[in-house]
Amino acid sequence: MNVLVVGGAGYIGSHCVRQLLAAGHRPVVLDNLVFGHRAAVPADVPLYPANLGNEKEVGKILRKEKIELVMHFAAYAYVGESVTDPLKYYFNNVAATLHLLRCMLGAGVKKFVFSSTCATYGTPEKMPITEDTPQVPINPYGQTKLDMENTLKALARAYGLSFAAFRYFNAAGAAADGAIGEHHDPETHLIPLAFDAASGVRPPLQVFGTDYPTPDGTCLRDYVHVDDLSRAHIAVFDKLATPGAALFYNLGTGKPTSVLEVIKAVEKISGRKVPYVAAPRRAGDPPALYADATKARTELGWVIRYPDIESIVATAWKWHEAHPQGYAAP
Ligand code: UFG
Repeated sequence: MNVLVVGGAGYIGSHCVRQLLAAGHRPVVLDNLVFGHRAAVPADVPLYPANLGNEKEVGKILRKEKIELVMHFAAYAYVGESVTDPLKYYFNNVAATLHLLRCMLGAGVKKFVFSSTCATYGTPEKMPITEDTPQVPINPYGQTKLDMENTLKALARAYGLSFAAFRYFNAAGAAADGAIGEHHDPETHLIPLAFDAASGVRPPLQVFGTDYPTPDGTCLRDYVHVDDLSRAHIAVFDKLATPGAALFYNLGTGKPTSVLEVIKAVEKISGRKVPYVAAPRRAGDPPALYADATKARTELGWVIRYPDIESIVATAWKWHEAHPQGYAAP
């Protein structure tokens, strides 16, 4: 299929582009390169540096490239920032997505894959989280994603749009060959920060909260490899052939891993000590978030190739060693 990957120069989008190529599809990237990196996109993949608000331009791209399906990864995803600057999040994650959807429907493109998040669940009472767990987001970031999920349901009913919304847990890791990986600016994610602490380019890692009601007192998260995530996006294609399909899937390994366990894995894989200090809890961090991804496994035949934290960290470390400054490195 001809697939428009919106945000295809970003972390998850760029891995998806490579998986699309590997599966024999034809990706076309739309990315305004505010957070994306041109170097993350293979040279022979068309890249349009357009903004979603420019409906005329986006409509032209959809028609010219004969796009059949759109994957949408372009969103702001800093939870803390979403609390202090919610307008930015509603404009980018909701308003810009509405422009994109209007263009798609205008051009007759009715298949959509949407990046949602476990942040739509807020602080659930029961673990693991299934797709039926109540969605009660505790920050504007999670709320914008939930708002879009609900919008998509209405569009499916009214216009026959078929969509899959994937609720990601903690995306991590890098391409197995180390060619592309995670590079955020600013970086707030645990694994890249632990690498930088181990390499001495940043101060000791702060462990946010050591008094949580978890086995070692630190937060439990479900780290899932970015290539595993990407393959689920392609596995859903057949299901999107049904007009009006409205699909929701959790994407996680189902394995809770604590912050201290991540640090241990980084030390083992890198062969270096990760200097760290105990710090107060970070606002908005739930003690534990991990998925029940049975639905993706059974309905999509989704297979997790990186089931444990060490194999995920190993790919991230390979990328980090080859590109210590990320895409800015020579
Ligand atoms: N952590 C630290 N020190 C750091 C950074 C993180 O202890 O310097 C801890 C956090 O407190 C958390 C865990 O490491 O317990 C993972 O934190 P990340 O920032 O790597 O990831 P989050 O779980 O906060 O964020 C992820 C996604 C978000 C999504 C969120 C839902 O990146 O997009 O899950 O809660 F919104």
